[in-house]
Amino acid sequence: MRANHKRSKTPAYYTASIAYDRRLAKYDIAGSVAHARMLAKQGIISEKDAELIIMGLVAIRQEIEQGQFPFKEELEDIHMNIEARLFEKAGDVAGKLHTARSRNDQVAVDVRLFLKDAIKDSARGIRGLQEALLKQAEANRDALMPGYTHLQRAQPILFAHHMLAYFHMLQRDMGRFQDCLRRVDMLPLGSGALAGVPYLVDREFLAKELGFARISENSMDAVADRDFIAEYQATAAITMMHLSRLCEELILWSTEEFGFIKLSNEYTTGSSIMPQKRNPDMAELARGKTGRVYGNLIGILTLLKGLPLTYNRDLQEDKEGLFDTVDTMVSSLEACGGMVESLTVNRDKLAKAAGEGYILATDLADYLVSKGVPFRQAHGQVKALVEYAMECGKSLRELSLPEYQRFSPKFDAGVYEITPQSAVEARDVPGGTSPKQVQRALAQAKRILEEQGGR
Ligand code: ARG
Repeated sequence: MRANHKRSKTPAYYTASIAYDRRLAKYDIAGSVAHARMLAKQGIISEKDAELIIMGLVAIRQEIEQGQFPFKEELEDIHMNIEARLFEKAGDVAGKLHTARSRNDQVAVDVRLFLKDAIKDSARGIRGLQEALLKQAEANRDALMPGYTHLQRAQPILFAHHMLAYFHMLQRDMGRFQDCLRRVDMLPLGSGALAGVPYLVDREFLAKELGFARISENSMDAVADRDFIAEYQATAAITMMHLSRLCEELILWSTEEFGFIKLSNEYTTGSSIMPQKRNPDMAELARGKTGRVYGNLIGILTLLKGLPLTYNRDLQEDKEGLFDTVDTMVSSLEACGGMVESLTVNRDKLAKAAGEGYILATDLADYLVSKGVPFRQAHGQVKALVEYAMECGKSLRELSLPEYQRFSPKFDAGVYEITPQSAVEARDVPGGTSPKQVQRALAQAKRILEEQGGR
């Protein structure tokens, strides 16, 4: 008994979204239950009818949870599938549920409810990775390593400082998701198809029932707006970009050439032909999947750019990319969290790299500055000194004092006290890499996680 359900003339395989929007089922049912309650409360339908409708919806929810719901492609989408099933369960009273509602405000409410949960999952994933980064930073709190610019060894830093850099990137992502949530958290129901509804509905009641912070201000905007999806996509794209940068470093660091870390077995794979290989597949996949998420962002922006108000069927195309981004990003965050947590740091290799070559050149210049040489001049003298050392194949440490003094008479035996350790200790500005500052930064990061509450 599917009264009022016209069979579509266009082929279902093309128009249907049920293959993917079935994922919205639980939100669709929650929206319908709240709507039925509101209709009864306002005397638009009887209490008895609302009860029958809600009983039917609850039974349908159970069917779906138990995998027994007969999804039908010819019924197009999740909204029509559930409504048609409600006719089968509850009889003709089902026809009253769609009073004062349209699929346009219905689908908008479903996606917003879905996204509120997805943002929670996203935040949990970010936090998991932040905890792993913090754990590694604390476990290796005094490990030295080279810091890089242009992928050239630049200055010694603490490994913990490097880990905390990623912590802060992720903290900004967290902020962006929370900010996005404020705009997702708005009830569109009651907007009808586009103009509002000619019934005395209680939208505030609906918002409360469904846990929305507020109601939408303009019915046309409410059914046409997908900014909140674009915003989530943009935030996810930035988060994936951060993961990709992290993964790129992990991949480099785990090469024989660097040898800074060893990824645990669960996060590497062997080669089918080369027995010695430990390929960092998980990190490579997270780096690769970043492209998919960028694509989904461009997809939604392009989808929206030419749409006249209000609802257009194009909007059905907002969902697959969104679901894909949520799944891709949340699983990437989990994989990266596990990968960081389980990696081992080769402190000796790191420390050795932090002392090799000419990485202390800046500190030599700063040393001359402490003897009264203007920085630009000191920079030039040390540059010449380094060129000389490179030519004779000597490290800075291997140069004799007379050799040093050939480049500046201000050099004295004190130059031999410049070490990677003294170099990091010297950078004792807020935000710098000195052990004292990093200690403080670690405590602050822990406080941030505590204030945000547990997972
Ligand atoms: N499946 C549609 C979507 O995802 C639901 C809304 C349909 N509304 C309409 N007027 N055809 O956008």
